[in-house]
Amino acid sequence: MSLQSKFDKLESENRAAELGGGQKRIDKQHNAGKKTARERINDLIDPGSFVEIDKLVKHQTKDFGMEDKKIAGDGMITGYGKIDDRLVYVFAQDFTVFGGTMSRSNADKVVKIMDMAVKMGAPLIGLNDSGGARIQEGVRSLAGYADIFYRNVRASGVVPQISAILGPCAGGAVYSPALTDFIFMVKESSYMFVTGPDVIKTVTHEEVTKEALGGAMTHNADSGVAHFAAQDDEQSMMMIRDLISFIPSNNLEDPPFKPSNDDPNREDEKLQNLVPNDPNKPYDITEIINSVVDDHNFLEVQAHYAKNMIVGFGRLGGRTVGIVANQPAFLAGCLDINSSVKAARFVRFCDAFNIPLITFVDVPGFLPGTNQELGGIIKHGAKLLYAFSEATVPKITLITRKAYGGAYDVMSSKHIGADVNYSYPTGEIAVMGPDGAVNILYRDLDDEKKKEAVAEYKENFANPFRAAELGYIDEIIYPKETRKKLIQALEMTKNKSHSNPPKKHGNIPL
Ligand code: HXC
Repeated sequence: MSLQSKFDKLESENRAAELGGGQKRIDKQHNAGKKTARERINDLIDPGSFVEIDKLVKHQTKDFGMEDKKIAGDGMITGYGKIDDRLVYVFAQDFTVFGGTMSRSNADKVVKIMDMAVKMGAPLIGLNDSGGARIQEGVRSLAGYADIFYRNVRASGVVPQISAILGPCAGGAVYSPALTDFIFMVKESSYMFVTGPDVIKTVTHEEVTKEALGGAMTHNADSGVAHFAAQDDEQSMMMIRDLISFIPSNNLEDPPFKPSNDDPNREDEKLQNLVPNDPNKPYDITEIINSVVDDHNFLEVQAHYAKNMIVGFGRLGGRTVGIVANQPAFLAGCLDINSSVKAARFVRFCDAFNIPLITFVDVPGFLPGTNQELGGIIKHGAKLLYAFSEATVPKITLITRKAYGGAYDVMSSKHIGADVNYSYPTGEIAVMGPDGAVNILYRDLDDEKKKEAVAEYKENFANPFRAAELGYIDEIIYPKETRKKLIQALEMTKNKSHSNPPKKHGNIPL
């Protein structure tokens, strides 16, 4: 073979790999409103930085006449590249090749870059669009999945893992994304379920559409499986880039510092009157969050799920923080099963990746009800208590209004290891609200006397001064200076060194 024909062979192999399943299938993908795997990678990665590996890998299956059907790359594009000049590893299932299904060979490609991501300390991003296990591969496909699951778990807490669902993701295939830190879905073109509508109809006689069973909004708003919902493929790639900008590349790094012209001492007069004096009036906690973070830039995570709890990323003085906040505008900001689990998982991500936690507290308590009790609020609420207690990153807490009962303890109180605890003058820190307390303490009083007792309780107990007297609150601050105070505390805790006792691992109440 001449030198030129060797070059020609390489050229034609590369072209074949790039064409994937062929123009007809590419057109079909586009007509379905979806981009191809390569187009998605182009959108995700800094221009010109993507390096593909294993481009010429082919499957080794001989069954079902597969010997004659081989396409270079085998339906999976893997490699590394940069996002904002920082290294990331990517795999993208190519739906135009055997429906993006998992084979032994293309699972090995994923395994290879997962091992590299951990060794090099860089995030792993998976772009999923697949018919699941390649039927022709039999158990080799299942083995490939399990090899990936195993690595997802080993990489958990070592490098950030992000999944985008950009088409079908069904059966056991859902479990790799489920083991990763964040799941992005695209409205109307992606779905995830363990068993699809047909099987459900046969087994339980329920009729349900794919969208209702496992579409983007089902998993963002109802099940809590997904964290972000995008309008289309391109937007989901932009959202992943944004998320990456907040988080470190691995558990040994600090998050990237992003200088800002936003004055750390900036005050906001609007905050002075934001929290209503009337404890029964709701307000929107995101107004405080958006006001204090650098350039008012707050990336909310799971915005559609358990809206009584807000979680997400922002920056204060250039440093990334994870924000956890009760939302009084929804269910009065109470703690319930879903909000506890949502916040607990977020707190654990932040702690694993050295992201300080800022907690805004306005919580009347746990949501009462048989649904909650029978659903296991005891163990689910305990998850949040566990997560905050276990977290060794800097923890700064601000009580804006209510901090009652067990919920006061749970929401990153001084007693479970917060480093700095602030309250607004509107703080109400007590065992329970005035009405509840009076009804128990003075059960036999007439209504008039009870009213007086409530007023007295409000005056004497529903305030932050008792807690400040005991040192449980370090400082009562003016709302307008929230940004300055949080940045001060963050600066002070910058070199915090604290660790939990050595152990194999704890036993979080699952
Ligand atoms: C082999 C498959 C395949 C599969 C799809 N294809 N799924 N090939 N194994 N599991 C092929 C099709 O034959 C077709 O090939 C191409 O991919 C595109 O599929 P279409 O059906 O034409 O596309 P579409 O109409 O968009 O439907 C997509 C689909 C459907 C909804 C994903 O193909 C489907 O239901 N597939 C079966 C899904 C499934 O049951 N998978 C197993 C799940 S269990 P051509 O050559 O015509 O382009 C599982 C276990 C994982 O995955 C276990 C992990 C532990």
